[in-house]
Amino acid sequence: STLPVICETNSLNSSSTGDDYPDVNWDELGFGLTQTDYMYMMRCSEDEKFSHGELAPYGNIELSPSSGVLNYGQGLFEGLKAYRKQDGKLLLFRPEENALRMQIGAERLCMRAPSVDQFVNAVKQTVLANKRWIPPPGKGSLYIRPLLIGSGPLLGIAPAPDYTFLVYASPVGSYFKEGRAPINLLVEDQMHRSSPGGTGGIKTITNYAPVLKAQCEAKAKGYTDVLFLDCVKKANIEEASTCNIFIIKDNIISTPDTQGTILSGVTRKSVIDIARTFGYQVKERPIPIEELMAADEVFCTGTAIVITPVSSITYLGRRAHYNVGELSQKLYANLTGIQMGLLEDKMGWTVEL
Ligand code: COI
Repeated sequence: STLPVICETNSLNSSSTGDDYPDVNWDELGFGLTQTDYMYMMRCSEDEKFSHGELAPYGNIELSPSSGVLNYGQGLFEGLKAYRKQDGKLLLFRPEENALRMQIGAERLCMRAPSVDQFVNAVKQTVLANKRWIPPPGKGSLYIRPLLIGSGPLLGIAPAPDYTFLVYASPVGSYFKEGRAPINLLVEDQMHRSSPGGTGGIKTITNYAPVLKAQCEAKAKGYTDVLFLDCVKKANIEEASTCNIFIIKDNIISTPDTQGTILSGVTRKSVIDIARTFGYQVKERPIPIEELMAADEVFCTGTAIVITPVSSITYLGRRAHYNVGELSQKLYANLTGIQMGLLEDKMGWTVEL
């Protein structure tokens, strides 16, 4: 079915100036869904490439009850943010990284994927069409959620006969209710998020529902989130339910190497590069849980959570406490400075709209 063409990309550039902000209390933004005006959709069948997409009013989509995504979880998502600068320009952060990661995930799940250009163009159109929803500078960002789903019907297990690429967006503030305050993590020693040869390294939708039980139990005990261990030896740390983890010991920064069981976060990658340009040694390697417990400083990274310091880790009834050191603050200031256009982007990471 075809969707109405709402507006051409060119006319979008001048269509919304941001002066007509919607009625949102920008100071109260958390990470909840605020529905915006438009979403982007593009469809293709399994034997063709994505070719033409368009904006449509944000709303429910129609799906066959026997669609691949509903029955067999054939779906991927991405997350990235757009910031509004003081001068009114808009900035995206490394959108090609999300496009490439979606392609890698699509290959693993036997799905058609949009090209990098199609992905980035769809993200740009979605941001411009929803420009009035981008928080004022310093008040948050527009979180952009691209989805790729097996939307065609089938009964036996097989790749779906057609695919839908969809992008929607919501203004957001801090992910955790603690805001930027340090978080408390509980190490989960029974349930796992990922296994060797599995899909922990791609952003499939099916990596997320399985963390809910551990996360709900941890939250009920007062923890912010859970940290998962490798499922083979239960010895090395992997990632939390929504983010990657870093430790600092004697000024050396380490983070678990990805090896297919850990998501290769765009923020993770960027933090590694920024820390190295500051002259720090960064190691991507297996990290035994005992090393985490003995670290000087710990922080988590992710698009939604940005860089969040960790205050404590609890493992088998033992609790390790950490100071919020200068380094994670420095990394945060540098990363967000680039993302918000407050610092010169020497890395060439931002895309201006
Ligand atoms: C992100 O940080 O963008 C994520 O995808 C995490 C999500 C579960 C909120």
